[in-house]
Amino acid sequence: MSHYFENDLNLKSEIKELSYTYDSSFFTFYSDNGVFSKKAIDYGSKLLLETYLKNDSDRRKVLDVGCGYGFIGIVIAVINNSIVDMIDVNKRAVHLTNRNIKKYKNIEAHSFISDAYENIDTKYDVIITNPPIRVGKNKVLEILEGAFDHLNSEGYLYFVIRKDQGALSIKKILESTRKVELMNKDKGYFIFRIKNDKN
Ligand SMILES: C[S@@+](CC[C@H](N)C(=O)[O-])C[C@H]1O[C@@H](n2cnc3c(N)ncnc32)[C@H](O)[C@@H]1O
Repeated sequence: MSHYFENDLNLKSEIKELSYTYDSSFFTFYSDNGVFSKKAIDYGSKLLLETYLKNDSDRRKVLDVGCGYGFIGIVIAVINNSIVDMIDVNKRAVHLTNRNIKKYKNIEAHSFISDAYENIDTKYDVIITNPPIRVGKNKVLEILEGAFDHLNSEGYLYFVIRKDQGALSIKKILESTRKVELMNKDKGYFIFRIKNDKN
C-alpha cells in the first residue's frame, strides 16, 4: 500500500473537489488519490488554520510545510492577503496546490517541492504545519525544530498534533529549549505556537 507522502507515479488519478467555508468566504480544493486526507479536509488542519486566523491574522509572509493540496496556505493567502509559500515532498500534492492556487485571483501564493526546508532560502513571519507524523518522529522534529532557522525574529511556528500521535512528548522535547504555548485543543488535537525569540 502506498502512503500519501510517497511519490507513486503509477497511482490512478481520481480528482475530487472538496469545499470549505470560513466566515462568508467559500473555497473549493481539488484533491486526488495519493495525497493526505483526499476525501475530506482534515479536522486537525481546520482547527490549526482557524486557531491561527483568530490569533495572528496580521502576519505577512507565511510558509505552509507539508501543504498537501494547499488547504491551509491558500485560505491564509485569501483571508489575510498574506504572501504564502507552500511546500511538500509529494509531487502530486504540489501539482494539486498549484491548480488550487489558480482558482483564486490576486493572491500571492506559490507551491514547490521541498523535503523539509531543503529548498527554502528565505525567512517568514509564520511557519504553519500539520506535520507528516507517519513519516516518523525524526522528520517531524526536523520540520518543527528547523523552523527557527527560517523564521524572522518574533515570528511564530504554529502546528497541530494529536494526543495519540505523541503531542505531549513532542511538546516536552521542544519545551527544553523554547516556550511552547497551547493555543487550542479539541477532539484530541492540540494546537501549539512557539515564538522565535532567539534570533
Ligand atoms: C498531515 S499531512 C498535511 C497536509 C495538508 N497540510 C493538509 O492540511 O491537508 C502532511 C504532509 O506533509 C508532507 N510531507 C511528508 N514528508 C515531508 C517532508 N519531508 N517535507 C515536506 N513535506 C512532507 C506529506 O506529503 C503531506 O502532504
